[in-house]
Amino acid sequence: MAATQRSSPRRLLWRTLLGLTIVGVLVAAVAVVALYRTWSDRAVSTVGQVPFERPLAMPELDEGVVIDGVRVFELTADEATAELKPGVETPTFGYDGPFLGPTLRMARGERVEVRVRNDLAETTTVHWHGMSLPAVADGGPHSPIEPGATWTPTWTVDQPAATLWYHPHPHRATEHQVLQGLAGMVLVDDGESPDALPHEYGVDDVPVIVQDRSFAGDGSFVDSARRFANTGVLGEELLVNGTWGPYLDVTTERIRLRLLNGSTARVYDFGFADDRPFALVGTDGGLLAAPTTLDRIRLSPGERAEIVVDVNPGETTVLRSFPPDLGLGPNERFEGGDDRFDVLELRAADELVPSAALPARLAELAAPDADDVVRTRSFDLSGTRSIDGEPMDIERIDAVVKAGSTEIWEVSGSGTAHSFHVHDVQFRVLSIDGDAPPPELRGRKDTVFLEQGRHYRLLIRFGDHPDDEVPYMFHCHLLRHEDNGMMGQFLVTADGDGPDRIDAPHDHGP
Ligand code: C2O
Ligand code: CU
Ligand code: CU
Repeated sequence: MAATQRSSPRRLLWRTLLGLTIVGVLVAAVAVVALYRTWSDRAVSTVGQVPFERPLAMPELDEGVVIDGVRVFELTADEATAELKPGVETPTFGYDGPFLGPTLRMARGERVEVRVRNDLAETTTVHWHGMSLPAVADGGPHSPIEPGATWTPTWTVDQPAATLWYHPHPHRATEHQVLQGLAGMVLVDDGESPDALPHEYGVDDVPVIVQDRSFAGDGSFVDSARRFANTGVLGEELLVNGTWGPYLDVTTERIRLRLLNGSTARVYDFGFADDRPFALVGTDGGLLAAPTTLDRIRLSPGERAEIVVDVNPGETTVLRSFPPDLGLGPNERFEGGDDRFDVLELRAADELVPSAALPARLAELAAPDADDVVRTRSFDLSGTRSIDGEPMDIERIDAVVKAGSTEIWEVSGSGTAHSFHVHDVQFRVLSIDGDAPPPELRGRKDTVFLEQGRHYRLLIRFGDHPDDEVPYMFHCHLLRHEDNGMMGQFLVTADGDGPDRIDAPHDHGP
């Protein structure tokens, strides 16, 4: 009796344990299968599947109008519907049109003014990414434009020829507005670029704005991140200048492509399907000293590269994005590191207009010189919501910099991939983990991809537009990270002193 009384609970215990183990094993098996399926579904490839049936849209070239010596542009942000993917109606935002905006062209030394009207139902801002200008004109979260209002920044263009861009920057809502279609290119000329460099807009000098999108059942853009994707929204199809499946008729022997990664989170590694080499002639802030031959160029969100590629009469070749090395190890796949895309088909005419040989020297670009550095700061981007553990606070000043001074910013990132951007400046990458940067990071840069765990030393010469009240931003250009707080603010003041806190922007009505 006593023995059965003792063994009965024990048997019950064993049975329970056995039952739990079986359930546990089943749950684990289901989880492994689910994980495996997610894993194997997760590598996206559109290689060989893009029909290339639509001519690449060329954003309208807008040179503004000169009024009393000021070059004046007008931009209106509005909602629309567009058939971007054949047969699919997508609600969009655009500047002066349903998607993206015109290419604004301006020259060094000119005074410019942009009249930005907001016809959206939500507050927006317009930021001139890569431009050196006063903070009040910079268009960050401190310059909100309410629905129905017009904002009119003005500044003098004072930097070398470059491919810059503009996009909204409203506090905590940048990803949504860029995803909906608000972005455009800015071309700065300086009268010093060699004539031999292809420069006929839309003919042999072509903007290539690459954006990834997925379309939901109702035609709208998918705006949620996939499971295990910590970088943000990764689309499974591409739009180039808003064109789905684009081709470009090439009529010259050589063509200059101004590549802009206008995506919210995706990193690309551009090259050609036949691995033909190309010349890298410019980076974010302008031309390199000399062309560099490459066969791949990795661009994270916000970065630009100007490349020149040669074509033969009658041939076609495809600009492709190869799996980018994100430096994330096993997480690589969930962040798009195994994805490949056909981007744009180049169709060379049977007879090509001869192009000049690429000049050996492109621009005056001295080696970075750290002699006059007055200060070194370091910033750590870890996780997805803060810098140095501090989430963005629109009233907090994280750094005060002396106008015109030079600093070293040591930047590192961890947790996932990041793309570090600083407003108002073009910096130089001094080193990565102590080593000289690769050729594509030796030019003028305003945005740099941070491989997890590596240390980037950036040499930054700050602008000369002191302002004690309105800050510039530095942040991760993965827009979800930016919106979630991976952003800081710096003031540029005459003496390098300034307040720790400022007032939040107040709303300006129509
Ligand atoms: Cu392209 Cu602060 O942004
Ligand atoms: Cu910027
Ligand atoms: Cu980030």
